[in-house]
Amino acid sequence: MKVDGRPMRPLWPAPQRDAVFVIDQRALPHGLQVERLATVAEVHTAIRDMWVRGAPLIGATAAYGLALRLARDAGDGAMEDAAALLRQARPTAVNLAWALDRMLRRLRPLPVAARAADAWDEADAIAEDDVTTNAAIGRHGLPLLQAIAARRPGPVQVLTHCNAGWLATVDWGTATSPIYQAHAAGLPLHVWIDETRPRNQGASLTAWELGQAGVPHTLVADNAGGHLMQRGQVDIVIVGCDRVTARGDVCNKIGTYLKALAARDNGVPFYVAMPTSTLDLALHDGLAEVPIEERSPREVTHVAGRDAAGAVVEVLLTAEGTTAANPAFDVTPARLVSGLVTEHGVVASEQGALRRLMEPRS
Ligand code: MRU
Repeated sequence: MKVDGRPMRPLWPAPQRDAVFVIDQRALPHGLQVERLATVAEVHTAIRDMWVRGAPLIGATAAYGLALRLARDAGDGAMEDAAALLRQARPTAVNLAWALDRMLRRLRPLPVAARAADAWDEADAIAEDDVTTNAAIGRHGLPLLQAIAARRPGPVQVLTHCNAGWLATVDWGTATSPIYQAHAAGLPLHVWIDETRPRNQGASLTAWELGQAGVPHTLVADNAGGHLMQRGQVDIVIVGCDRVTARGDVCNKIGTYLKALAARDNGVPFYVAMPTSTLDLALHDGLAEVPIEERSPREVTHVAGRDAAGAVVEVLLTAEGTTAANPAFDVTPARLVSGLVTEHGVVASEQGALRRLMEPRS
């Protein structure tokens, strides 16, 4: 996608294969800051502290982190230690483990001397596959929006939560990919963006992204979605996901479940954009089995923004000493999901459909 009209990705490898560049998403939307990560420790920090975030992007970034480690030491010990370090950088999005497992499957059988070059090749392949996957999600999601547009005049009203945009992937985004493709095809649409407390990925990232792309949008407080749906102002909800279980339970950014409940009560279709790299067939009951990241209470008690002088400052929202809790994800049961928009098409959020989705393709 583009920033100020110039093509950009949130992650790109240095041509010398000695570093990876990332947009530091903590600085958006007030500044576009690029960081150079040259060691596995730096990559681990960037994922843990959310310079990069979003399920597919943390997977691709971790793959480069492992490749950077192997460039210095490609022995079994160094490789396994680096993979273990990266794997626990964030617990919920399964793409992190998925990408590392894909790397290890290719690298473990190789002689040590061959590993560094292959590791970089595989990280490149993971990143490029993500772009292809997300473009396909957009192609499969587009007819959902076209069908709404065909039913009635006026822009298609989409609601999304958090940031499942190009900043959360290597390009296109997942939930935003159908939106970008509809916009490019000239289909009138408007996006309601949940601010997504406490880290405000909707306010600071999705609104910035859609603004850069010229997609009409309106930012709303997290609590507004149900009201908008009751008034008929939302045609479809499309969100991303961090882990989907074998029976179709969807783990995504905290607050997603409430939107799914409101959508069900108001007859609004609730779709989840899911690259198959986010499917975890090893888990079944999302509520009981998906590890939910608990982040710092400071993300709830404090908020950052730009002051009148242009400086980015953090302020305390609460009384000193207020106790806060910060579960970062929730689980939407499969029964509330209208469908999963994958790179292979739209499928039902149920076990049989997901098993068939993962069968080898001819
Ligand atoms: O905590 P974050 O910002 O990494 O959470 C991101 C989300 O929950 C996204 O919706 C999800 O990763 C899908 S990204 C295509």
